[in-house]
Amino acid sequence: MIIKVESRSIGKVACDVLIVGVYEDKEKPLHDYLQHEKFKAQKGDASLINTQGGIPAVRICFVGLGKSKEINRDTVRNACAMGAKKAICAKAKNIAVYMDTPEDMSQAAAEGIVLGSYKFQGFHKKIEEEHKLVTAAIIVSSQGKVKAAQEAVKFGNIIATAENRVRDLTNCPSNVTTPEYLAAYAKQIAKETKVTCKILDPEKENMECIMAVAKGSDILPKVVVLSYKGSSKKELTALVGKGVTFDSGGISLKPSAQMWEMKGDMAGAAAVIEAMRVIAKLGIPKNIVAVIPLTENMPSGHALKPGDVIGSLDGTTVEIISTDAEGRLILADAITYAKKLGAARIFDCATLTGGCVTALGDVASGLMGNDEKMIDEVLEAAEKSGEKAWHLPLYEEYKDYLKSSVADIKNCMDRGKASPSTGGTFLHKFVGDTPWVHLDIAGTAYLSKARPPYAEGATGVPLRTMIEWLRS
Ligand code: BES
Ligand code: ZN
Ligand code: ZN
Repeated sequence: MIIKVESRSIGKVACDVLIVGVYEDKEKPLHDYLQHEKFKAQKGDASLINTQGGIPAVRICFVGLGKSKEINRDTVRNACAMGAKKAICAKAKNIAVYMDTPEDMSQAAAEGIVLGSYKFQGFHKKIEEEHKLVTAAIIVSSQGKVKAAQEAVKFGNIIATAENRVRDLTNCPSNVTTPEYLAAYAKQIAKETKVTCKILDPEKENMECIMAVAKGSDILPKVVVLSYKGSSKKELTALVGKGVTFDSGGISLKPSAQMWEMKGDMAGAAAVIEAMRVIAKLGIPKNIVAVIPLTENMPSGHALKPGDVIGSLDGTTVEIISTDAEGRLILADAITYAKKLGAARIFDCATLTGGCVTALGDVASGLMGNDEKMIDEVLEAAEKSGEKAWHLPLYEEYKDYLKSSVADIKNCMDRGKASPSTGGTFLHKFVGDTPWVHLDIAGTAYLSKARPPYAEGATGVPLRTMIEWLRS
């Protein structure tokens, strides 16, 4: 979508829908049009009004911003997403947005417009004629504000467009987004940007954990390595994303009712792949490598079994208690690989545990790590980007949960206590002392009910957090 920045009076903006932010406690712009409306301007309120030719805009969509003192980027992002959605329902092609904020929040506004316009196309026999926004104009109050806002809008547009691609990949069924498909997708990004792509065969690389998870599937696992050089310094940052393209649980089979949701068990991988596109497009001045393990987790006569003992890329042996704790296995090898490449810090994201959904719902991701500074950095980035993350502990005691009498470590605890922290503790064993943060996105990657700025389905979390962190 093309998003421009303009400075002009909102009474003079020509467009199909003019989205106007309104505070509960401040004078309402264009208030004449609200005379007969019960519009309180609370967050979440929206009212679409035909201007009957009174101004060049055909319709106005008033969106509530709540109390002026509490205004922040999240409110602006959500209000813009709601406005964009309403505008699309009204078959608008060109919209304009005006929100009077104390500081420039046009990045969040652009993100909201793009995120709010998202709809997963699906695979219908008859493709419905889709209504898409063509242009958006963000109206700022003076010419002097245009330049800074343009830069912010450019960032917001790039990030949210990539986020929508993450949502597409995650919403796609597992018979489409196979390891092969995602590897080809990553290669395409490398073609389009200044990123290089290598596809590894985990068997040749001795990635025994990945091979163990893949054993039950008829399709081959792959590991995607995307590299970006944005600095002449040596320091390398690694991003790792869980790419289980379908998680049936394996021999420790999941109940069938919600099993279909496990097509989204590659949300972390999708976010990391798209993060590399954004990193290259923004020209972030850092060296960044993405390591993305991709496989299915299936039951079969060849599958991994509970009680099996397997090896790993770093030589650690693992006793399998549940074949459904597969994410940490493939991440372990990917993390080891990142360390071998010389990563000075590692960020991983994964739909890792149902326990994280129990603890934090779909509202916040669970954040764990071994380095206070990096933990604080990522928490701050999450806060700034409007993707909530909550710090969970990695207490020493959790290590006891994973003690095995036959191998170096168990892949999980048989009684499932503190599963997000136990998952984190398992990963920590492979990370060692390298500064590291792990984000459990099991709850936040997928919404069963729409919530601004998201529609129902995949969210694209934690793309914004990653980019915000890397930019800081
Ligand atoms: N992919 C699941 C976690 C998950 C659950 C993601 C719900 C999204 C929504 C993961 O591989 C898994 O099955 N984890 C197990 C771990 C347990 C066996 C220790 C879980 O959470 O039940
Ligand atoms: Zn699982
Ligand atoms: Zn899984």
